[in-house]
Amino acid sequence: MVKDKILVIGASGQIGVELTLALRKVYGNNNVVASDLREENELLKGTGPYVSLDVMNKEMLHVQVIRQNITQIYLLAAILSATGEKNPNLAWNLNMQGLLNVLDIAREEQIQKVYWPSSIAVFGPTSPKINCPQQTIIEPITVYGISKYAGEFWCNYYHQRYGVDVRSLRYPGLISYKSAPGGGTTDYAVEIFHDALEEKNYNCFLREDTYLPMMYMPDAIKATLQLMEAPQEQIKVRTSYNIAAMSFSPKEIAAAIQKHIPDFTIHYKPDYRQTIADSWPQSIDDTSARNDWNWKPDFDLDLMTADMIQNLQQAKGLLKK
Ligand SMILES: NC(=O)c1ccc[n+]([C@@H]2O[C@H](COP(=O)([O-])OP(=O)(O)OC[C@H]3O[C@@H](n4cnc5c(N)ncnc54)[C@H](O)[C@@H]3O)[C@@H](O)[C@H]2O)c1
Repeated sequence: MVKDKILVIGASGQIGVELTLALRKVYGNNNVVASDLREENELLKGTGPYVSLDVMNKEMLHVQVIRQNITQIYLLAAILSATGEKNPNLAWNLNMQGLLNVLDIAREEQIQKVYWPSSIAVFGPTSPKINCPQQTIIEPITVYGISKYAGEFWCNYYHQRYGVDVRSLRYPGLISYKSAPGGGTTDYAVEIFHDALEEKNYNCFLREDTYLPMMYMPDAIKATLQLMEAPQEQIKVRTSYNIAAMSFSPKEIAAAIQKHIPDFTIHYKPDYRQTIADSWPQSIDDTSARNDWNWKPDFDLDLMTADMIQNLQQAKGLLKK
């Protein structure tokens, strides 16, 4: 039997750090190679192998895959929604070519499994706002959303045509305390905790009533591992699965934080990200993921808020020492 050897591309990012650490727990530290264009994240240091890698350099990527005997690839390198609107060409190039490079190499080297995340950003203003279904009208208005939707169909194509076992989730906004978010429209839901603890005030770049689908990072990691470990025959969606955990507005998360920090205040100053947020659904129907591979989240708004505050207090307390 071939031993699993995993390459994580974009391992120093918000999801990459936690996913790499989780994969190392399951597969063993030396069997998960972390890679990124930027330097190794502090939290990864000393926990396993790291290589500097540009996913746009297909030759170098190919060499690493062969040299390290890679059997699975997790591709997380991307430009996210808000940053993408500032540089649409860069976002399109990285998000598309990075994926095509990985899919091609997966086909040529018969990589066992590939993971590539999509996003709720595939949905646009014409998609249903509430409980947005797996299959529906999909007309994204951001370059990020366009790249994710095109990417979903490339994944499906490589699966249908070449048998590449590529799996995908449409993540909602992800909230984490370990690593910082990387330029998305839902970043406010992470920033708010830091400012609540440090300043007791947060200036929010979205309107108070902007409901968006969100998920706590431990649930996102759980979903990713669960999807990747499910037997092939259970994976019925080969574009990308809707997954959901909670949906809230800035006003509601502020109220949840005030239960722990009563003098916390929030002010609203919507910017260009409001238009992006307004184009997305407020909540997501994840029935297919629940039925096909038993997806179920653990965290709601209150549980997530309590856990975030506790962990950030601890981390900030430690930093002050
Ligand atoms: N964080 C979220 O809320 C969220 C929501 C939906 C989908 N996603 C998707 O999940 C994936 C990971 O997102 P994230 O939040 O961790 O992003 P991030 O920006 O925090 O991390 C991406 C990492 O990729 C690296 N990278 C960029 N260009 C690279 C290149 N050419 N070669 C190698 N590495 C490169 C960056 O240095 C960064 O460390 C992305 O595909 C993103 O679209 C994230």
